[in-house]
Amino acid sequence: MCGIVAYVGSQDAAPILLEGLQRLEYRGYDSAGLAVVNAKSLRTRKVKGRVADLAAVVPARFKGGSGIGHTRWATHGVPSDVNAHPHLDQEQRIAVVHNGIIENADELRRRLEADGIVFESETDSEVLSHLIGSTVKETDTLEEAVRRALKSVVGTYGIAVVDSHRPGEIVVARNGSPIVLGIGEKEMFAASDVAALIRYTRQVVHLEDGELAVLKADGFNTFTSDARETAKEPFTVDWEAGHYDNGGYEHYLLKEISEQPDTVARTLRGRLDDRFHIAHLGGLNMDPRESRSFRRVKIIGCGSAYYSGQIGAQLIEELARIPADAEPASEFRYRSPVVEADTLYIAISQSGETYDTLAAVQELKRKGGRVLGIVNTVGSAIARECDGGVYLHAGPEVSVASTKAFTSTAVAFALIALHLGRVRDLSPADGRRICDGLRKLPEQIKEILTQEEHIRTLAMKYADAPGMMFVGRVRGYPVAREGAQKLKEISYVHAEAYPASELKHGPLALISPELPTVAIVPDDELLDKNLTTLGEIRAREGRILMVGHRTADAADDCIVVPKNETELDPILLTIPLQIFAYHAAVALGRDVDRPRNLAKSVTVE
Ligand code: AGP
Repeated sequence: MCGIVAYVGSQDAAPILLEGLQRLEYRGYDSAGLAVVNAKSLRTRKVKGRVADLAAVVPARFKGGSGIGHTRWATHGVPSDVNAHPHLDQEQRIAVVHNGIIENADELRRRLEADGIVFESETDSEVLSHLIGSTVKETDTLEEAVRRALKSVVGTYGIAVVDSHRPGEIVVARNGSPIVLGIGEKEMFAASDVAALIRYTRQVVHLEDGELAVLKADGFNTFTSDARETAKEPFTVDWEAGHYDNGGYEHYLLKEISEQPDTVARTLRGRLDDRFHIAHLGGLNMDPRESRSFRRVKIIGCGSAYYSGQIGAQLIEELARIPADAEPASEFRYRSPVVEADTLYIAISQSGETYDTLAAVQELKRKGGRVLGIVNTVGSAIARECDGGVYLHAGPEVSVASTKAFTSTAVAFALIALHLGRVRDLSPADGRRICDGLRKLPEQIKEILTQEEHIRTLAMKYADAPGMMFVGRVRGYPVAREGAQKLKEISYVHAEAYPASELKHGPLALISPELPTVAIVPDDELLDKNLTTLGEIRAREGRILMVGHRTADAADDCIVVPKNETELDPILLTIPLQIFAYHAAVALGRDVDRPRNLAKSVTVE
């Protein structure tokens, strides 16, 4: 997905912008560019390809103390040098980088062309540079020109703008696409993601939708869209630049899979109470009476976040005995949901910036819903929008495929379920059982990680299959869905997930030696039923890789994971599937951390 970085200060902007753009590479992009301003000129370079290709065409003497940079992910117009950002106005005075989508770009383009403006690119974003360029001559400040130009724009944007007539100044604005300011020593940064600026500062300020900021070396001012100045309190990001390094692993994905004993421990830290066998979750901002008042729980999130929400719904139903279900946020927001006062809504997002999830939360808030967030990125848009919640503390997740955030989210749900259960009918003994089970998780994850070589061998054995079926029952079903999701997104092997109970209602017709099945078979009350399903697959000559707590004769291959409390088993069962997908993708020579067509955080509709 597109990335923005901006700098103003006493250093040369270009190297800082290139370094920032490199830090944004993990989000996925197809072209990159930058613009630098000094007292004499505004100069740009942009290329289709990687940030390294851009660095190769930036001359050594590309001097200027302010500038903007961009990594583009094509939406309007093919990936090309011309379509890459920044875009300039007709007089080459203004340069703009843009994340988001301008919905009325065609209409604005026609209007500007009728005024004699000639467009260079096919992008929707270029209308912004021309609109600002044609307004800036009539205004006293760049900020006013940007504000006026944005009034005619319909759509989403995070933008950064420079003006060759004002070398020491950058204007940024946000509507639906994140912009964070970084405060340095006599220098200011802005970016679409803290990853781009964390090497230089950890003091940050998030812009809200509709806000605009003016950045100069000595500080910043923020304003509403109607020019009222806003007061912003900076906060310190607790992530460090080192968190964004690959730690000597070949891929971020493997690093993040391997971090899970620590990340799960961090999600749990300080949250389990041994005296009363409850969870301390101060961030929920709810007293016990309020926690008891909900009659239903509705969970929303996208992609893997949604699948972790399905695990969460089961945990809440089992431990708190409250009806709970999960739904893709991207569907929920469009179906005019009935919002009830006695329903607790929980939104999940690793990035905290997923547009569909944010829009769903905003819709809920408009209708008076009480929304909690399970979010990894502190201070992100979804975290700010929610009434309270649980931070994962899993550290930045760089690889596009979610792994450590997934398991930490499931752990956060176990804590919420324990909390909601213990203010209702969950006994202290069961509370203790869950607390003990949660404490065991980090060591058990380490045990699973020791099986990497065995799982790698299996991944190589099955990677050639044209497709794979993933099946699981009840607790195993979201695990199967996440396993299929991991495999398809990083290895591009077609993978279907089905409830094991549904196989005979249709998909059994697909079973053949060419379509192996990954079966999630925990030792729970459904074990016999699951073993029967394996028999049905076997009878159709289907090959079976079973992931569970024991081996079974019906399976060709097995991965055995340590047993925990039944309710917590899905967390552990997920991990071999992450390792399996990783090694299948490596065996197939895929770009594991940056799978084709995907972005780490989807900040557009
Ligand atoms: C997971 O592997 C995917 N990359 C994707 O489904 C992701 O979980 C989804 O886009 C939601 O992202 P979020 O958690 O940042 O909101």
